[in-house]
This record gives sequence, C-alpha cells and structure tokens, in this order.
Amino acid sequence: MTQNVTAAPAATDSASARQWWRDAVIYQVYPRSFADGDGDGMGDLPGITARLPHLRDLGVDAVWLSPFYASPQADAGYDVADYRAVDPMFGTLSDAETLIREAHALGLRVIFDIVPNHCSDRHEWFRQALREGPGSAVRDRFHFRPGKGAAGELPPNDWESVFGGPAWSRVPDGAWYLHLFAPEQPDFNWDHPAVHEEFRSVLRFWLGLGVDGFRIDVAHGLVKASGLPDIGHAEQVKLLGKQAVPYFDQDGVHAIYRDWRRILEEYGAERIAVAEAWTPTVERSARYLRPDELHQAFNFEYLTTGWDAAALRAVIDRSLTAMNAVDAPATWVLSNHDVVRHRTRLADGDAARGLRRARAATLLMLALPGSAYLYQGEELGLPEVTKLPAEVRQDPAFFRSTGQDGTRDGCRVPMPWSGRRRPFGFGPVAGGPSWLPQPDSWEHLTVAAQTGDPASTLEFYRRALAVRRTHPALGAGRDIAWLPSPEGVLAFRRTAPGGAFVCTVNLTAAPLAVPTPGTPLLASAETEPGAETEPGAETEPGAEVESGVEVEPGAGRTVLPADSTVWWAA
Ligand code: GLC
Repeated sequence: MTQNVTAAPAATDSASARQWWRDAVIYQVYPRSFADGDGDGMGDLPGITARLPHLRDLGVDAVWLSPFYASPQADAGYDVADYRAVDPMFGTLSDAETLIREAHALGLRVIFDIVPNHCSDRHEWFRQALREGPGSAVRDRFHFRPGKGAAGELPPNDWESVFGGPAWSRVPDGAWYLHLFAPEQPDFNWDHPAVHEEFRSVLRFWLGLGVDGFRIDVAHGLVKASGLPDIGHAEQVKLLGKQAVPYFDQDGVHAIYRDWRRILEEYGAERIAVAEAWTPTVERSARYLRPDELHQAFNFEYLTTGWDAAALRAVIDRSLTAMNAVDAPATWVLSNHDVVRHRTRLADGDAARGLRRARAATLLMLALPGSAYLYQGEELGLPEVTKLPAEVRQDPAFFRSTGQDGTRDGCRVPMPWSGRRRPFGFGPVAGGPSWLPQPDSWEHLTVAAQTGDPASTLEFYRRALAVRRTHPALGAGRDIAWLPSPEGVLAFRRTAPGGAFVCTVNLTAAPLAVPTPGTPLLASAETEPGAETEPGAETEPGAEVESGVEVEPGAGRTVLPADSTVWWAA
C-alpha cells in the first residue's frame, strides 16, 4: 500500500479548485445498496468503482460514501469496530484505494463518512473496557456510570436513545454505559485525550490515502453537558428536536472541529468536512462553519420543509443569511439514507404527484446558491419502498418500539441498473440475491431503461446538472433576488457577469400563468403544448387552461403546470 497515491481531480483554475465545495453537487452512495460486485447480495467497493462512470455521466462533482469500515452492522455500518479497516463484506483497503484513484481519474472527488460519536461494542477499546471492569482506565474512554436505585438497577439519567428506549445499557458487572443510538453503539467520552488522539490519527490515515474529505456523523453529539444532567422534560430529541438537550449541540464540540480543520489543512486547502448536525436552527448549524471550523453542514431544516411556497422561501432566506454571516456556502438536500425519499415524502399519497413534485423540488434545489446533495436513486425517481416484510428489515430503529419511525430500510433498497429480472443489475447475476428485495416495477426505473429517454427522470437530472455546470449564474453564490409572484409561486433571479437566470416554481395544484422572464432552459414537467411563449410574444387571445387561468393576450406569459419548476436564461 502506498500513501498519497492519488491526486484530486485536476484544477482548471486554482481559485475555483481551492473552493470546489462552494458549489459542488455531491452524490451520496450507500455502499450496501449501490452495486454488488461479487454477487453476495450486498453492495461493495469494487461494485461502486465499476459504476463510477454513471456518476461522471450524471455530472456530479463528488461522491460521499456511507461507512464501509469493519463493523458487525448493528446499524448498517454506523457501528464501527475498526476505523482503519474495510469490512470484508465491502472489500479490502486496496479496493478503497482503487476507488479513490478511479474516481479521481474520472474527475470526481471522494468523501468518506467518519463516525466519531460512538463506535461498535465490538471495537477493541470497548471490549477491553468490559474485560478490565469497573474503575479501569480504559472505561474512561466511554461513559460508564453506576445506576440509580437501591441496587443500581435504574439508568443513571433520563436520556433516551434516538432509536427508542433508554440511552443506557447495563453490563454484567452492573455498570451502565451511554449509547445515544443502539446499545451496540457505545458513545465515546470526548473529555478523554485518547479519543481526540485516535480520531486525529484516523483522519490522517484516510487523508493519506487521498480522500478529499469527510462527512461527520452526528457531529453535534460528541460533547455531553458536564455531569450528564437529566433532561427533566418529556420531549426527548428525535434528531431534529427544537428543544435544547444536554447531549446535542454543546458548545464544546467546536474546539474539536477547529482541531480537525488544522488537520485537513495539513493536506492542502481542498480537503473538506461536512457536518451531520441536526441542530434546531440553521443559525446553530452556521456555528459549525465559522472560518476556522468545518466547510459545510447539511441543511436539515430545508429537507424537512414541506411543499409550501412561503415556508420554503423563509428557510431559503434564513439559510443564506446564516451561511453568509460565516462566509460558508449554503447546502441543500432533499433525501438521504435516513429519511423517506422525497418522491414519496412530497406525494401526499398520490404517486404521480410525488414524481412531479420531486422533479420540481430538485430543480428548485439545484438553482439555489451553494452546494447540493443527491442521494443515490433519486436521479431515477425511485420511490420509498413502503411494503417491506418485517423479516427482511434491518434498521435497528424498526425493532425498538418507541424510537424513530423505523422506516429507514425503505430508502435503502438496492439500485436498479439494468435488465428485466431482479436484482436489475445490482448484482452480476439475473435472479441473484439482494439484501433487500426490489419491487418488480423497478424494471422500468433502471439506469438502462431510462438512458436515452428524454422524458425520463434520469435524463432530466443529467440535463439539469449540465445546465447548472455551464450557466454562469448557477452554482456558487450568496444571494438570490425574489421576484413578485402570485401566491403559491416562487420566482427568483440570479445574476452573474456572464448572464442572468430566473427560476420559477409553481407549488400549487393548478396550472398558473406567469410573466415569461426569458428563454426557457429546462422545465421539470412538460409545459402545456402551445402555452409557452417568447418574451413579449402574442398569445392566443383568451386562451384558457384547465384550471380556468386566463392566459393574458400579448403580455408574454407562460403557463406553469401544477407542481413544476422552470429555469430561464434571463
Ligand atoms: C447518523 C446516520 C444514521 C445513523 C446514526 C448513528 O444519523 O446518518 O444512519 O443511524 O447517525 O450513527
């Protein structure tokens, strides 16, 4: 194994290369479910490497991989037993190196997932802590406490696990340990210097292998309020809690990220980190992005905002204001491996509406200033799989009755690539296994089936990313200018020296006529035949669309279909 074997994609100009993350479109690969190279039904690193050309053709800038480290898979790899080893089910360290090298050769950057809040109960430190018993020094690397009650039979405090049930489990010698997630995921004690030292070393290990950055899992959870005080109120946190809790978003986390920033910069100014920080507000997220801390944070407030013009406008404005204040790029995301796919989330029970809204939402997201995250399969318009039998499910939240909704397997169903039989090219053999079953209807959603079909969601994503890459007013930036628009419509302009751009979104259930601001570049839905007009062009007098909206004669108006977005060169 060699160190520093791979160079990041060649820079066309050094300033934009240095700040590549400011407008990057970053594609999340969920390794279990992307591509299975060896046919065991589980995705793997060689499978991902073989499919990287799909990401190049899609037109993304970077790929983020969820964890593939050695892990008993109690939480699909977010329970890490060895931070420097690839789990045999995903391949070898040399496969990871090959993946980085091949990605770079295709012009893609690579971001790995780092899980510093907790490890696996099979991690050597935790096993040692159990072996050495109460009072041993290695127990201090975790949060071990005696229980309450006459015989210590009650948990040390009232914290609940994000997955449901108490955040504490008891070991045979009677002590309790803290786990904000599953019992198999003991939380590290970040007051201990050895924990800091270990993660510095892990970061350097992967940076040395050429990785371009990290996604930091549960970045807001590392530091707990001193004394681990009771919450004392009924509402425990469900990741995006609005209430302050003593185990999330404590001020102490920021010193860790200042330290990590220095480490990233030892490897040059182009290595980045993105925080998974479910803070109550975007303003709190911005604190992770102060100039000497991290580069990006996921915008979960945006993800959790519904299909509502006023609410979206508000969260967009607040996000831009908060990020501008710390000179960080805003980020936008609609789907990931923890939430219901946006095609289904936005559907309100109507699949066709879901797809319309998903495409419109994607086009809005990609028009906003900053960086955007895509989750594998959204470019195919994949819906959430809602009818998985309990015996195939693996999400630990599903099995803990009072926890998260436990629906996370439904967005983790393996990707359909080609062919007419399951697993649709996910594995090498038709009729072969896949760890979660795909619906038969996905035959029509494969990459192969959609390629070349101009009406397909895949070709729509490819066009959108191509336009985003080339239009001077798209991508990085700080501001948008809202344009006057009817209720339920969002319209904004972005300007750049090379040209202006307008995005209009009709979030209502009816077609609406809006002033035509320029030449259409791309639409999320077919506009009404004959209803699209050039600026200032004559429109059929009195032309009426389904909704009863009158298209104004001679005014240069365009009918936006219900739930649709149009991009314009203005
Ligand atoms: C993050 C991950 C999620 C995981 C949890 C615990 O929220 O995205 O998948 O279960 O952290 O590591």
